[in-house]
Amino acid sequence: MALWVSSSFEKLVIVMIVLVLVLVHHHHLANGNANENIENRVSGCDLFQGSWVEDISNPPQYNAATCPFIEKEFNCQNNGRPDHNYLYYSWHPTSCDLPRFDGLGFLRRFKGTEHHDYDVKVLLDRNMFLVDIVNETEGRILKLDSIEDGKNWLGMDMLIFNTWHWWNYRNAHQPWDFIQVGSKVMKDMDRMVAFEMALGTWGAWVDTNIDPTKTMVFFQGISPNHYNGSDWNEPNAKQCQGQMTPVLGSIYPGQYPPAVAVVKRALSKIKKPVTLLDITTLSLLRKDGHPSIYGIGGASGMDCTHWCIAGVPDTWNQILYNLIIWHKL
Ligand SMILES: *[C@@H]1O[C@H](CO)[C@@H](O)[C@H](O)[C@H]1NC(C)=O
Ligand SMILES: *[C@@H]1O[C@H](CO)[C@@H](O)[C@H](O)[C@H]1NC(C)=O
Repeated sequence: MALWVSSSFEKLVIVMIVLVLVLVHHHHLANGNANENIENRVSGCDLFQGSWVEDISNPPQYNAATCPFIEKEFNCQNNGRPDHNYLYYSWHPTSCDLPRFDGLGFLRRFKGTEHHDYDVKVLLDRNMFLVDIVNETEGRILKLDSIEDGKNWLGMDMLIFNTWHWWNYRNAHQPWDFIQVGSKVMKDMDRMVAFEMALGTWGAWVDTNIDPTKTMVFFQGISPNHYNGSDWNEPNAKQCQGQMTPVLGSIYPGQYPPAVAVVKRALSKIKKPVTLLDITTLSLLRKDGHPSIYGIGGASGMDCTHWCIAGVPDTWNQILYNLIIWHKL
Protein backbone atom coordinates (compact mmCIF):
# COMPACT_ATOMS: atom_id res chain seq x y z
CA MET A 1 0.00 0.00 0.00
CA ALA A 2 1.12 3.51 -0.63
CA LEU A 3 -0.51 6.45 1.01
CA TRP A 4 0.01 9.37 -1.31
CA VAL A 5 -0.95 12.55 0.36
CA SER A 6 -1.55 15.57 -1.76
CA SER A 7 -1.60 18.47 0.52
CA SER A 8 -1.77 22.19 0.54
CA PHE A 9 -2.38 22.94 4.15
CA GLU A 10 1.31 23.66 4.30
CA LYS A 11 3.21 22.60 7.37
CA LEU A 12 0.20 21.59 9.36
CA VAL A 13 -0.51 18.66 7.15
CA ILE A 14 3.13 17.77 6.85
CA VAL A 15 3.24 17.58 10.61
CA MET A 16 0.15 15.47 10.62
CA ILE A 17 1.65 12.98 8.19
CA VAL A 18 4.98 13.01 9.93
CA LEU A 19 3.17 12.16 13.13
CA VAL A 20 1.51 9.21 11.48
CA LEU A 21 4.99 8.04 10.55
CA VAL A 22 6.31 8.70 14.01
CA LEU A 23 3.50 6.77 15.58
CA VAL A 24 4.02 3.99 13.10
CA HIS A 25 7.73 4.05 13.79
CA HIS A 26 7.26 3.88 17.53
CA HIS A 27 4.93 0.97 17.25
CA HIS A 28 6.53 -0.86 20.16
CA LEU A 29 4.90 1.63 22.47
CA ALA A 30 1.48 1.00 21.04
CA ASN A 31 -1.16 -1.11 22.56
CA GLY A 32 -1.48 -4.25 20.46
CA ASN A 33 -5.18 -5.05 20.51
CA ALA A 34 -6.86 -1.70 20.03
CA ASN A 35 -8.29 -2.87 16.72
CA GLU A 36 -10.38 -5.62 18.20
CA ASN A 37 -14.07 -5.06 17.72
CA ILE A 38 -13.37 -1.77 16.08
CA GLU A 39 -16.25 -2.28 13.72
CA ASN A 40 -18.71 -2.74 16.56
CA ARG A 41 -17.35 0.35 18.13
CA VAL A 42 -17.35 2.77 15.22
CA SER A 43 -19.68 1.36 12.57
CA GLY A 44 -22.53 3.74 11.86
CA CYS A 45 -21.12 6.34 14.21
CA ASP A 46 -20.37 9.89 13.07
CA LEU A 47 -16.85 10.30 14.40
CA PHE A 48 -16.91 14.05 13.74
CA GLN A 49 -19.89 14.77 15.99
CA GLY A 50 -19.09 14.83 19.69
CA SER A 51 -17.42 16.78 22.46
CA TRP A 52 -14.06 17.15 24.21
CA VAL A 53 -13.63 15.52 27.60
CA GLU A 54 -10.75 16.15 29.96
CA ASP A 55 -9.05 12.85 30.73
CA ILE A 56 -5.71 12.89 32.48
CA SER A 57 -5.45 9.13 32.09
CA ASN A 58 -5.23 9.62 28.32
CA PRO A 59 -2.02 11.56 27.61
CA PRO A 60 -0.54 12.21 24.13
CA GLN A 61 0.85 9.00 22.61
CA TYR A 62 4.32 10.53 22.12
CA ASN A 63 6.52 13.04 23.88
CA ALA A 64 6.71 16.21 21.80
CA ALA A 65 9.68 17.48 23.80
CA THR A 66 11.92 14.70 22.50
CA CYS A 67 10.29 13.97 19.15
CA PRO A 68 12.70 15.08 16.39
CA PHE A 69 10.01 15.50 13.70
CA ILE A 70 8.02 18.36 15.22
CA GLU A 71 8.80 21.75 13.73
CA LYS A 72 9.77 24.41 16.22
CA GLU A 73 6.78 26.66 15.55
CA PHE A 74 4.30 23.98 16.61
CA ASN A 75 6.19 22.61 19.60
CA CYS A 76 4.34 24.77 22.11
CA GLN A 77 5.72 23.10 25.22
CA ASN A 78 9.29 23.59 24.06
CA ASN A 79 8.41 27.20 23.18
CA GLY A 80 7.39 27.85 26.78
CA ARG A 81 3.65 27.28 26.87
CA PRO A 82 3.07 27.02 30.62
CA ASP A 83 -0.25 25.14 30.74
CA HIS A 84 -0.69 21.44 29.93
CA ASN A 85 -4.43 20.84 30.15
CA TYR A 86 -4.89 21.19 26.41
CA LEU A 87 -2.87 17.96 26.01
CA TYR A 88 -5.36 15.96 28.03
CA TYR A 89 -8.62 16.42 26.18
CA SER A 90 -10.00 13.38 24.38
CA TRP A 91 -12.50 13.57 21.58
CA HIS A 92 -15.66 11.63 22.43
CA PRO A 93 -17.99 11.03 19.49
CA THR A 94 -21.62 11.28 20.61
CA SER A 95 -22.57 7.69 19.77
CA CYS A 96 -19.41 5.57 20.07
CA ASP A 97 -15.92 5.35 21.54
CA LEU A 98 -13.00 6.39 19.40
CA PRO A 99 -10.28 3.70 19.55
CA ARG A 100 -6.71 4.92 20.10
CA PHE A 101 -4.04 4.85 17.41
CA ASP A 102 -2.29 1.48 17.25
CA GLY A 103 0.73 1.78 14.96
CA LEU A 104 1.73 -1.88 15.10
CA GLY A 105 -1.80 -3.11 14.40
CA PHE A 106 -2.05 -0.64 11.52
CA LEU A 107 1.15 -1.88 9.90
CA ARG A 108 0.20 -5.52 10.33
CA ARG A 109 -3.06 -4.80 8.61
CA PHE A 110 -1.35 -3.16 5.65
CA LYS A 111 1.63 -5.50 5.48
CA GLY A 112 2.64 -6.41 1.97
CA THR A 113 3.40 -2.91 0.83
CA GLU A 114 6.60 -0.99 1.39
CA HIS A 115 7.90 0.49 4.74
CA HIS A 116 11.29 -0.81 5.94
CA ASP A 117 9.82 -3.48 8.17
CA TYR A 118 6.22 -3.52 7.13
CA ASP A 119 6.34 -2.61 3.50
CA VAL A 120 4.05 0.42 3.68
CA LYS A 121 4.96 3.61 1.81
CA VAL A 122 3.70 7.09 2.69
CA LEU A 123 4.34 9.93 0.25
CA LEU A 124 3.64 13.64 0.51
CA ASP A 125 3.04 15.84 -2.53
CA ARG A 126 3.25 19.38 -1.24
CA ASN A 127 0.90 21.02 -3.66
CA MET A 128 -0.90 24.08 -2.33
CA PHE A 129 -3.79 24.35 -4.78
CA LEU A 130 -4.24 20.84 -6.28
CA VAL A 131 -4.60 22.60 -9.66
CA ASP A 132 -1.44 23.75 -11.46
CA ILE A 133 0.82 26.76 -11.19
CA VAL A 134 2.73 27.12 -14.45
CA ASN A 135 5.68 29.43 -15.09
CA GLU A 136 5.17 31.37 -18.31
CA THR A 137 6.95 34.43 -19.65
CA GLU A 138 4.35 36.78 -18.08
CA GLY A 139 4.80 35.15 -14.66
CA ARG A 140 3.41 32.31 -12.59
CA ILE A 141 -0.11 31.38 -13.66
CA LEU A 142 -2.56 29.56 -11.38
CA LYS A 143 -4.61 27.49 -13.84
CA LEU A 144 -7.95 26.63 -12.28
CA ASP A 145 -8.88 24.06 -14.88
CA SER A 146 -5.56 22.26 -15.23
CA ILE A 147 -4.47 19.42 -12.95
CA GLU A 148 -1.35 17.92 -14.53
CA ASP A 149 -0.02 17.01 -11.09
CA GLY A 150 -2.74 14.37 -10.97
CA LYS A 151 -0.34 12.06 -12.79
CA ASN A 152 1.56 11.73 -9.49
CA TRP A 153 -1.51 10.43 -7.71
CA LEU A 154 -2.38 7.53 -9.99
CA GLY A 155 -2.20 3.94 -8.81
CA MET A 156 -2.20 4.58 -5.06
CA ASP A 157 -4.18 2.54 -2.55
CA MET A 158 -5.19 5.61 -0.63
CA LEU A 159 -5.22 9.34 -1.37
CA ILE A 160 -5.75 12.14 1.15
CA PHE A 161 -6.25 15.59 -0.35
CA ASN A 162 -6.42 19.03 1.18
CA THR A 163 -6.40 22.59 -0.06
CA TRP A 164 -7.65 25.93 1.30
CA HIS A 165 -5.09 27.64 3.50
CA TRP A 166 -3.23 29.27 0.59
CA TRP A 167 -6.22 30.46 -1.38
CA ASN A 168 -6.52 33.73 0.58
CA TYR A 169 -2.88 34.80 0.52
CA ARG A 170 -2.08 38.07 -1.21
CA ASN A 171 0.99 40.14 -2.09
CA ALA A 172 4.34 38.64 -1.08
CA HIS A 173 2.82 35.39 0.22
CA GLN A 174 0.77 34.76 -2.90
CA PRO A 175 2.69 32.16 -4.90
CA TRP A 176 1.22 33.12 -8.32
CA ASP A 177 1.00 36.27 -10.47
CA PHE A 178 -2.04 35.57 -12.63
CA ILE A 179 -5.05 33.32 -12.52
CA GLN A 180 -6.41 31.54 -15.58
CA VAL A 181 -9.78 29.97 -16.37
CA GLY A 182 -10.08 28.52 -19.87
CA SER A 183 -8.29 31.00 -22.12
CA LYS A 184 -9.01 33.97 -19.85
CA VAL A 185 -6.03 35.27 -17.83
CA MET A 186 -6.76 37.67 -14.94
CA LYS A 187 -4.77 39.55 -12.32
CA ASP A 188 -7.12 38.26 -9.61
CA MET A 189 -10.69 37.12 -8.94
CA ASP A 190 -12.99 36.27 -6.02
CA ARG A 191 -10.93 33.74 -4.10
CA MET A 192 -13.88 31.69 -2.90
CA VAL A 193 -15.08 31.33 -6.49
CA ALA A 194 -11.57 30.35 -7.58
CA PHE A 195 -11.38 27.78 -4.77
CA GLU A 196 -14.67 26.23 -5.84
CA MET A 197 -13.58 26.08 -9.49
CA ALA A 198 -10.37 24.31 -8.51
CA LEU A 199 -12.29 21.81 -6.38
CA GLY A 200 -14.50 21.20 -9.41
CA THR A 201 -11.42 20.46 -11.53
CA TRP A 202 -10.12 18.13 -8.85
CA GLY A 203 -13.52 16.41 -8.50
CA ALA A 204 -13.61 15.77 -12.25
CA TRP A 205 -10.12 14.29 -11.96
CA VAL A 206 -11.37 11.94 -9.23
CA ASP A 207 -14.37 10.88 -11.31
CA THR A 208 -12.16 10.23 -14.34
CA ASN A 209 -9.20 8.55 -12.67
CA ILE A 210 -10.23 6.77 -9.48
CA ASP A 211 -11.25 3.14 -9.35
CA PRO A 212 -13.01 2.92 -5.98
CA THR A 213 -12.31 -0.83 -5.72
CA LYS A 214 -8.58 -0.02 -5.67
CA THR A 215 -8.25 3.45 -4.15
CA MET A 216 -9.74 5.03 -1.05
CA VAL A 217 -10.09 8.83 -1.38
CA PHE A 218 -10.28 11.31 1.49
CA PHE A 219 -10.54 15.09 1.53
CA GLN A 220 -9.25 16.77 4.66
CA GLY A 221 -11.76 19.49 5.59
CA ILE A 222 -11.24 23.09 6.64
CA SER A 223 -9.08 23.80 9.69
CA PRO A 224 -10.46 26.89 11.46
CA ASN A 225 -8.71 29.73 13.31
CA HIS A 226 -9.62 31.63 16.51
CA TYR A 227 -8.84 35.33 16.21
CA ASN A 228 -12.13 36.82 17.37
CA GLY A 229 -13.38 35.97 20.88
CA SER A 230 -16.89 37.13 19.94
CA ASP A 231 -17.13 33.88 18.03
CA TRP A 232 -17.05 31.92 21.29
CA ASN A 233 -18.90 34.52 23.43
CA GLU A 234 -15.77 35.99 24.94
CA PRO A 235 -15.50 39.35 23.15
CA ASN A 236 -12.68 40.56 25.42
CA ALA A 237 -10.42 37.60 24.67
CA LYS A 238 -7.01 38.55 23.31
CA GLN A 239 -7.46 36.40 20.23
CA CYS A 240 -6.62 32.81 21.27
CA GLN A 241 -3.98 33.85 23.80
CA GLY A 242 -4.50 32.43 27.30
CA GLN A 243 -7.28 30.07 26.23
CA MET A 244 -6.92 26.96 28.37
CA THR A 245 -10.18 25.09 27.85
CA PRO A 246 -12.19 24.01 24.82
CA VAL A 247 -15.73 25.19 24.18
CA LEU A 248 -17.82 22.73 26.19
CA GLY A 249 -20.45 20.62 24.49
CA SER A 250 -20.75 19.78 20.83
CA ILE A 251 -21.94 23.09 19.34
CA TYR A 252 -19.70 25.98 18.38
CA PRO A 253 -21.51 29.27 18.99
CA GLY A 254 -19.77 31.21 16.22
CA GLN A 255 -19.75 31.26 12.44
CA TYR A 256 -18.25 28.47 10.38
CA PRO A 257 -15.61 29.45 7.83
CA PRO A 258 -17.41 30.02 4.50
CA ALA A 259 -15.01 27.59 2.83
CA VAL A 260 -16.76 24.71 4.63
CA ALA A 261 -19.92 25.12 2.55
CA VAL A 262 -17.84 25.38 -0.63
CA VAL A 263 -16.06 22.11 0.13
CA LYS A 264 -19.32 20.30 0.91
CA ARG A 265 -20.92 21.57 -2.28
CA ALA A 266 -17.92 20.54 -4.36
CA LEU A 267 -17.78 17.06 -2.80
CA SER A 268 -21.51 16.54 -3.39
CA LYS A 269 -20.88 16.87 -7.15
CA ILE A 270 -18.34 14.04 -7.24
CA LYS A 271 -19.79 10.69 -8.26
CA LYS A 272 -17.00 8.46 -6.95
CA PRO A 273 -16.82 7.90 -3.17
CA VAL A 274 -14.79 10.56 -1.38
CA THR A 275 -14.79 10.69 2.43
CA LEU A 276 -14.70 14.15 3.95
CA LEU A 277 -12.49 14.31 7.02
CA ASP A 278 -14.91 16.78 8.54
CA ILE A 279 -12.64 18.14 11.24
CA THR A 280 -13.98 21.71 11.30
CA THR A 281 -16.41 21.48 14.23
CA LEU A 282 -14.16 19.50 16.53
CA SER A 283 -11.34 21.95 15.77
CA LEU A 284 -13.56 25.02 16.20
CA LEU A 285 -14.28 23.82 19.73
CA ARG A 286 -10.52 23.89 20.48
CA LYS A 287 -9.87 27.61 20.93
CA ASP A 288 -7.20 26.43 23.41
CA GLY A 289 -5.29 24.39 20.84
CA HIS A 290 -3.30 27.05 18.94
CA PRO A 291 0.30 28.13 19.59
CA SER A 292 -0.74 31.79 20.21
CA ILE A 293 2.47 33.39 21.56
CA TYR A 294 4.21 30.01 21.90
CA GLY A 295 4.86 29.63 18.21
CA ILE A 296 7.95 30.76 16.38
CA GLY A 297 7.28 34.51 16.45
CA GLY A 298 6.43 34.92 20.14
CA ALA A 299 3.99 37.73 20.94
CA SER A 300 4.52 39.40 17.56
CA GLY A 301 3.65 36.20 15.74
CA MET A 302 0.35 35.50 17.52
CA ASP A 303 -0.63 32.25 15.81
CA CYS A 304 -4.27 31.26 16.22
CA THR A 305 -4.28 29.41 12.89
CA HIS A 306 -1.92 26.47 13.30
CA TRP A 307 -2.09 23.95 16.15
CA CYS A 308 0.21 22.92 18.95
CA ILE A 309 1.77 19.50 18.39
CA ALA A 310 1.04 17.34 20.35
CA GLY A 311 -2.54 18.51 20.13
CA VAL A 312 -5.66 18.71 17.99
CA PRO A 313 -4.15 17.25 14.76
CA ASP A 314 -3.47 14.02 16.67
CA THR A 315 -7.23 13.64 16.94
CA TRP A 316 -7.62 14.27 13.20
CA ASN A 317 -5.16 11.42 12.69
CA GLN A 318 -6.90 9.21 15.20
CA ILE A 319 -10.18 9.62 13.31
CA LEU A 320 -8.46 9.04 9.95
CA TYR A 321 -6.86 5.91 11.34
CA ASN A 322 -10.23 4.58 12.48
CA LEU A 323 -11.89 5.33 9.16
CA ILE A 324 -9.10 3.51 7.29
CA ILE A 325 -9.31 0.45 9.52
CA TRP A 326 -13.08 0.51 9.38
CA HIS A 327 -13.02 0.63 5.58
CA LYS A 328 -10.51 -2.25 5.46
CA LEU A 329 -12.50 -4.61 7.69
C1 LIG B 1 9.07 29.42 -11.57
O1 LIG B 1 9.57 30.72 -11.41
C2 LIG B 1 9.98 31.03 -10.11
C3 LIG B 1 10.43 32.48 -10.08
O2 LIG B 1 9.46 33.30 -10.64
C4 LIG B 1 11.10 30.10 -9.69
O3 LIG B 1 11.47 30.37 -8.35
C5 LIG B 1 10.64 28.66 -9.81
O4 LIG B 1 11.70 27.78 -9.53
C6 LIG B 1 10.12 28.38 -11.20
N1 LIG B 1 9.54 27.04 -11.23
C7 LIG B 1 9.72 26.21 -12.23
C8 LIG B 1 9.05 24.88 -12.12
O5 LIG B 1 10.39 26.49 -13.23
C1 LIG C 1 -15.41 40.11 16.00
O1 LIG C 1 -16.71 39.70 15.67
C2 LIG C 1 -17.72 40.62 16.04
C3 LIG C 1 -19.06 39.97 15.81
O2 LIG C 1 -19.13 39.34 14.58
C4 LIG C 1 -17.52 41.90 15.24
O3 LIG C 1 -18.50 42.86 15.60
C5 LIG C 1 -16.12 42.46 15.55
O4 LIG C 1 -15.87 43.59 14.74
C6 LIG C 1 -15.07 41.40 15.30
N1 LIG C 1 -13.79 41.89 15.79
C7 LIG C 1 -12.71 41.94 15.05
C8 LIG C 1 -11.48 42.43 15.73
O5 LIG C 1 -12.71 41.59 13.88
